[in-house]
Amino acid sequence: MDNQKALENPIFKMIGSCADDLGLNTYVIGGFVRDFLLNREAPTDIDIVTIGSGIELAKKVANRLKGNPKVTVFKNFGTAMLKHEGLELEFVGARKESYQRDSRKPIVENGTLEDDQNRRDFTINAMAFRLNEDGYGTLIDPFNGLKDLQNKTIRTPLEPEVTYSDDPLRMMRAVRFATQLNFEIESDSLNAIRTNKERINIISKERIVDELNKIMLSEKPSIGFALLHKIELLPMILPELTALQGIDEVEGQRHKDNFWHTLEVVDNISKKTDKLWLRWAALLHDIGKAPTKRFDKKIGWTFHAHEFVGSKMVYKLFKRLRMPLNDKMKFVQKLVLMSSRPIILSEDHVTDSAVRRLIFDAGEYVEDLMTLCEADITTKNPKKQKRYLKNFQVVRRKIIEVEERDRIRNFQPPVSGEEIMQAFGLRPSKEIGIIKETIKEAILAGDIPNDHEAAYKLMLEKGKKIGLTPTVK
Ligand code: CTP
Repeated sequence: MDNQKALENPIFKMIGSCADDLGLNTYVIGGFVRDFLLNREAPTDIDIVTIGSGIELAKKVANRLKGNPKVTVFKNFGTAMLKHEGLELEFVGARKESYQRDSRKPIVENGTLEDDQNRRDFTINAMAFRLNEDGYGTLIDPFNGLKDLQNKTIRTPLEPEVTYSDDPLRMMRAVRFATQLNFEIESDSLNAIRTNKERINIISKERIVDELNKIMLSEKPSIGFALLHKIELLPMILPELTALQGIDEVEGQRHKDNFWHTLEVVDNISKKTDKLWLRWAALLHDIGKAPTKRFDKKIGWTFHAHEFVGSKMVYKLFKRLRMPLNDKMKFVQKLVLMSSRPIILSEDHVTDSAVRRLIFDAGEYVEDLMTLCEADITTKNPKKQKRYLKNFQVVRRKIIEVEERDRIRNFQPPVSGEEIMQAFGLRPSKEIGIIKETIKEAILAGDIPNDHEAAYKLMLEKGKKIGLTPTVK
């Protein structure tokens, strides 16, 4: 591969020339090098390492750049950052780093390039291109990262025990890179992670979730979740998922393994959508099944009300992992709560009123709900698969048809509370609620159309029935 091509952007020559003026050996290192060698899209975060002061070099570069961009200095870490034409350039002095055992905060000591490469997470992230004029573009790869890239292997530069114990976030990063790049984590690493798994507890939830989200947004998220399961990190992060694993058998009756089923559903949905929260809904759609599992002699295995229980668990899970407790969480809850509705509906003759109720309850999420239900089909029986998909197509068509006619989504009552009060000379009271509910129910059941005239007529009828007298005859 032509390394010069990676460094086509004139900024690299310029950094090299500043480094030459300061007499500092300087390199671009990490993700930028890895992604270039993998032919992936170039990242916008670029790490520059220099054997000396990263802050001094950043200042010199900023001075020479048009517009003199601001240099942000992180004194404690001896790093400096500047923004230039959509790039974030981070400058750091090479370090020989030792870590405090109970913190991710490093104690920083100056070091050589090799010291710096040693302290990085993976061999594929420790490669560097030289930027000084003498040797410009030379690849410095002391741990054979290039070979690991070719062999699709995640390996640590030092003994894995040291690398993971120094910074336990790397356990999650190993899984994340394995998922994004479809690489294998080599076996010594897997063992070291298992041994050190308790140390994940010193990592903040936010950083763990960042990695989970990156796994979730990969092409095939199941790779990551299966790995987390294998290295025994999953029960520490998402015990609700681990609890779904296993098949019970009573009186010759078995249920499916809902953990592996869930992973299939997540992969299925990932082929249809890049929406992070819809993928989360797929991951969590069955979590209520573990606590609700019962065996009934007459009907076999049941998971009564697992959707409701699951949607309550979503809140607790989001809270525990410090995930947003906002409309994103509500979306996931709603999808989990409604996850069986289209299936129940499609098993029967698909009536207009059932579809109207589905649209009413799911509101703006109705298409996402259908996408989830289609992804939920994991039967290996091609005939069944075809039949289920066809049934959902019928539901989808009906949704469009009913919505065009009845406009149920974002339902607004065709007669307002104000109008009801005027019609019967009422003050705010529970009768208004009763009448409104009657009108809504009648529309959803298809007894009256969703329009003002029909609703007003029904209002008068219902009012009289509950003993109210209209003010105008
Ligand atoms: N790094 C590390 N240990 C960590 C985090 C980062 O050794 N826990 C090193 C790696 O050499 C990595 C570099 O710092 O390549 C930059 O980190 P980061 O920007 O987080 O990752 P990238 O490798 O650039 O990948 P991505 O942008 O996909 O996160």
